[in-house]
Amino acid sequence: MRPRAGRRQARASRIAALGSAELARRIDTAVNRRAGLTDSAATDAVRLVHDAADGAAGLVIERWRDVLVVQVHEDRFSSPLDALREVLRERFDAWNVRAAYLKRFVRDRAHADASTERLHRDPQPWIGESVEPAITIRECGARFLVRPYDGFSVGLFLEQRDRRRRVRELACDRRVLNLFCYSGGFTVAAALGGSPGVTSVDLSRRYLAWCRENLVANGLAVEPHRFYASDVFEFLRRAERQSLRFDLIVIDPPTFARMRRPKRVFRFADDLERLAAGALRILEPDGLLLCSTNDRTMTHERIERAFRDAAAPRRCEVVDRPPLPPDFAGDPDYSKSVLLRVK
Ligand SMILES: C[S@@+](CC[C@H](N)C(=O)[O-])C[C@H]1O[C@@H](n2cnc3c(N)ncnc32)[C@H](O)[C@@H]1O
Repeated sequence: MRPRAGRRQARASRIAALGSAELARRIDTAVNRRAGLTDSAATDAVRLVHDAADGAAGLVIERWRDVLVVQVHEDRFSSPLDALREVLRERFDAWNVRAAYLKRFVRDRAHADASTERLHRDPQPWIGESVEPAITIRECGARFLVRPYDGFSVGLFLEQRDRRRRVRELACDRRVLNLFCYSGGFTVAAALGGSPGVTSVDLSRRYLAWCRENLVANGLAVEPHRFYASDVFEFLRRAERQSLRFDLIVIDPPTFARMRRPKRVFRFADDLERLAAGALRILEPDGLLLCSTNDRTMTHERIERAFRDAAAPRRCEVVDRPPLPPDFAGDPDYSKSVLLRVK
């Protein structure tokens, strides 16, 4: 009879071997399901594998032109990383990609160790040759600079692709405010759509610089637009005092963020009502407001109620709940979005 430890080992390697073939099958199925999306959305940036919705819990693979960014959520992804690397390496030629960068996600990012932080900023990829610090991707006629080794996030949230297009369609002749603008995805969309002036607000000066770079990458002038390095609540108070008014406000905040000065946290679920009240005070009559969130616990109803209550006695109606793009199919809770009109 085989010793107990040996039997356990054999069983483990069987599971690992099976896991790797099954992983490959699921990745291929997910990638095949997205065939044609790059043409229909006129983009070269696609989420190829979306977590449990593609039968690969804890695994997200995004394609940014010819570079892959692979997110592994370690609390849920159980296959060995070496097996995943082999599966991807074998597909490099067929997929026509030149590098893959690995992002290891731990549950609490604030407590990620220094080696994880270094990994996310290392120009040397997990697979392939290192690439330039910023690559330009296309999306529905817009261009965005993506930085594959700039940290956890690379500069664009693909789940917002169709919502950016929506903002672009709505922005003509509207003064637009983009709160929590990050690298300016919605800013670029609004400017391309013909907004005479987009105001972008973010805590980070570095992200505001990225936002300007994205405007320039689209052949747009930076001068008509305004950039504020500020806490959103501080900006909203100042904007009200100065009688600034907007026709379209985009609010796409983080679920949770720590602020260093003053030291406090932003939590969408706790701050939603205050955010709604502040934004509505500077929205013109008959103005539009798009609010999105990645907070899985949040419902459309709760967001809509917060804005309806804050708007009273003005009437606040739901124009639309812009859905997720097809590469996020099967996971409607992932990100919710509401487009409102406030009389
Ligand atoms: C999830 S990203 C927002 C995504 C962005 N709306 C987009 O379209 O790509 C979160 C951003 O909010 C910013 N942020 C977090 N807390 C903030 C605050 N209190 N005031 C202003 N910006 C904040 C961060 O610097 C970061 O750029």
